[in-house]
Amino acid sequence: MLPYQTLLTLDRRAPTTLAQQLSTALMSLIQQGIIPAGTRLPGARTLAALLHVHRQTVAGAFEELAAQGWLELRPARAPVVSQQLPEVHAQPLASGPPHVAHRAGFAFRARSAAAEPWPTPSTQWLDDGSPDSRLAPLAALARNYRRATHHLLHPTYLGYTDPNGSRRLRQQLSQYLRATRGVPADPEHIFTTRGSIMGLYLLAQLVLEPGDTVVVADYGYRSVETIFGQCGAQLQRAGLDEQGVVVDDVAALCQRHRVRLLYLTPHHHYPTTVTLSAARRMQLLHLAEVHDFIILEDDYDFDYHYESSPILPLASADRQGRVLYVGSLSKALSPAVRLGYVVAPPDIIAALGPLRRLVDRQGDALLEEAVAELLAEGELTRHLKRARQHYQQRRDACCQLLRTELSAWLSFSVPAGGLAIWGCWRADIDLPLVVAHGRRLGLAFSDGMRHQGPTGAWGLRLGFASLTVEEMRQRMEVLKQALQACYPVAGTASMAEALI
Ligand SMILES: Cc1ncc(COP(=O)(O)O)c(C=O)c1O
Repeated sequence: MLPYQTLLTLDRRAPTTLAQQLSTALMSLIQQGIIPAGTRLPGARTLAALLHVHRQTVAGAFEELAAQGWLELRPARAPVVSQQLPEVHAQPLASGPPHVAHRAGFAFRARSAAAEPWPTPSTQWLDDGSPDSRLAPLAALARNYRRATHHLLHPTYLGYTDPNGSRRLRQQLSQYLRATRGVPADPEHIFTTRGSIMGLYLLAQLVLEPGDTVVVADYGYRSVETIFGQCGAQLQRAGLDEQGVVVDDVAALCQRHRVRLLYLTPHHHYPTTVTLSAARRMQLLHLAEVHDFIILEDDYDFDYHYESSPILPLASADRQGRVLYVGSLSKALSPAVRLGYVVAPPDIIAALGPLRRLVDRQGDALLEEAVAELLAEGELTRHLKRARQHYQQRRDACCQLLRTELSAWLSFSVPAGGLAIWGCWRADIDLPLVVAHGRRLGLAFSDGMRHQGPTGAWGLRLGFASLTVEEMRQRMEVLKQALQACYPVAGTASMAEALI
């Protein structure tokens, strides 16, 4: 008998099941000819004893291999490696060694600016406002996901489903949005998406025509501005102050242009983190009515408030069907959980389905069922309560570090909510230089290209939530080293030196 114990090594810590590992390993041995066609394998009980696994594990692997044509199974007899093995080697189309093209063999035009280089897992980085997914109830989500796979074995769910999203999730979201932010949405008003960016994209495609005027704030969210540009819209910018978008500027733009849409991130403005005041929300709703424009309300950051209760969304006071509301679970749970939603009048929702189907037949039905259950169990609400406490502590600690360590280079204001702090670099600082130095020290952070305001000054949107205080302290130490190397400040010791 072949030395199966040595030939077949299984890893109990690997993410794949033991049965999958065993079938892959046996297949590989058969492919290599180490176990030749016609070989009689040990029975499931014997092999299980040799490998110290359960008999069902071996039986499962045998069944999988038989289904793929590698083994022949006969009742009450040991399995035999098939004489007619499945085709192993594909016929090459062309002779010569395989070649991977590193460039397209034709001309094309990239539709938006290249993204900043993405940090590799080994780089440390400072993000621009992500949650700490380690705190999220991912185990409960995974459990619900597994359960959903059982529910979905019902024939109703096996095929394609409603492109508007899971009915159950829309019911749960309807209750959640009413309870947390006063948005009076029925399931018919809700459309689920893979993250809010998809909702923003679909809505822009639906309501904008080439040449339409779209008003955005002086500092804005570049991704969505690119979407508007792709729709052929002309962007006009309104000023921004500590109460949010300046209403008089929007009114003045309405006098000069036929404004089709105003894009807002009221809680909290991206990137500057200011909250749009309640009075301005009402004034903008009034202005939308007078000048007949749409308000696209991107409430990506509603869940986190530290000083006072949140101001309700414009959508909660919209009586005219002018507000298109977009939300997301990216900050509440994790950006990896791709789930967002649109709240809009039912005729808009009905028009979104056919648009979505052009790029994505439907959402992730399993994920939607799993999240619906998370909402029904109250797990999301409990998580947000806990997370808010962590994030408030982290915000305070991060502000303290900025005050004591980086005040020579950066000024900032303490945000009332959200997951990021907005800072302004000293006027003489050439940010790309500091970023390049930081990268050499192993720290990535935004080069500010996305956050350059009307005056050309560089801003920093510094996420404080995804790191523990100690992790933040370490990364800020590296940031300080990079700044000190490029713009030395006398008497400013590095944090490490200061601690000695
Ligand atoms: C202002 C704003 N809107 C929308 C999004 C998109 O979020 P997601 O697609 O992950 O829901 C982000 C992401 O950070 C954002 O900052």
